[in-house]
Amino acid sequence: MGRVFSGLQPTGELHIGNYIGALRQFTDQSGHYYCVVDLHSLTVEPDPATLEARSLDLAALLVALGLGRKSAVFIQSQVPAHTEMTWLLACEARIGELNRMTQFKVKGRNRPQSSVGLFLYPVLMAADILLYDIEEVPVGDDQRQHLELIRDVAMRLNSHYGDVVVVPRAVIPTLGGRVFSLTDPLQKMSKSDPDPMSKVLLTDPDELIVRKIKAAVTDSGREVLHDPVAKPGISNLLEMAAVLSGEPVTVWAERYRSAGYGPFKQAVADQVVAVIGPLRDEAQRIRKDPAELGRILEDGRLRAREQADLRLSAVKRAIGLHL
Ligand code: AMP
Ligand code: TRP
Repeated sequence: MGRVFSGLQPTGELHIGNYIGALRQFTDQSGHYYCVVDLHSLTVEPDPATLEARSLDLAALLVALGLGRKSAVFIQSQVPAHTEMTWLLACEARIGELNRMTQFKVKGRNRPQSSVGLFLYPVLMAADILLYDIEEVPVGDDQRQHLELIRDVAMRLNSHYGDVVVVPRAVIPTLGGRVFSLTDPLQKMSKSDPDPMSKVLLTDPDELIVRKIKAAVTDSGREVLHDPVAKPGISNLLEMAAVLSGEPVTVWAERYRSAGYGPFKQAVADQVVAVIGPLRDEAQRIRKDPAELGRILEDGRLRAREQADLRLSAVKRAIGLHL
């Protein structure tokens, strides 16, 4: 695997879609970077009273996944090169291409009160990645379009100034790249969905996880079949269980085909608890140990800074800025 960067926003609580689409793919290797993108979260309802605590919660979760030993786990706003690089890349990105971003269309376009930050969101994301000479970016399917834009911006920069950044690519899981809502299996599971029953949070206690999975909207009929068109609810649960257990969807479907929805949902719930329970407990333990967490984040900050400053200087030199 090439060098990896991924980022998560410390807004809203993380859910099992974030785990399956993104976190699960993260591995602890040197030259890999995992970032709490607090500056991105300023584009949505910034809350000064909780931002820092949420950033630390998320950092604790990354450490609980085993990251931050060989890899760097750090907080975006602690590495100033990200904001400086954002300006340089904003001068390469085109208004037309940013206007085409689905996320911007949904959240902000045609609303004069939307922040410029929301428009520039993918440029900050480009800065995150291009500073670290990254080849692979593990993300969920909803980030595919942003990654295509970032590749275009990187190639444009290279064609204007000589090969000065690595052109990254998205790594999106074939199974689980898009986890759907438990209450509406045609919608993506989302941090911003106000219905708590729509998602399993990575902080949920075991009993609540079981309750949410058992209440998940399923389809008419009673056979457990993988058919995302005819049976989106059951298929969503099948894919979740398959990814989390490491067994193929077909094995799960065969095993529960005629058992009925009740026993199937119980088995899925048990599987989710088996993966999320220990992760949740470990994240809580780490969060209560500020010394350990602080040490890992400081180490991550230093390593990130060193690499980011190098790449930023190279880009500035190529652009002709006096250093
Ligand atoms: P966000 O919640 O927007 O900060 O997303 C963090 C990571 O989780 C990104 O890589 C997203 O692509 C991924 N992600 C978010 N929602 C889902 C979902 N419903 N299914 C799969 N991946 C997701
Ligand atoms: N935009 C990503 C999301 O909403 C978060 C993010 C910011 C990111 N910078 C990144 C993901 C760099 C991967 C790489 O999920």
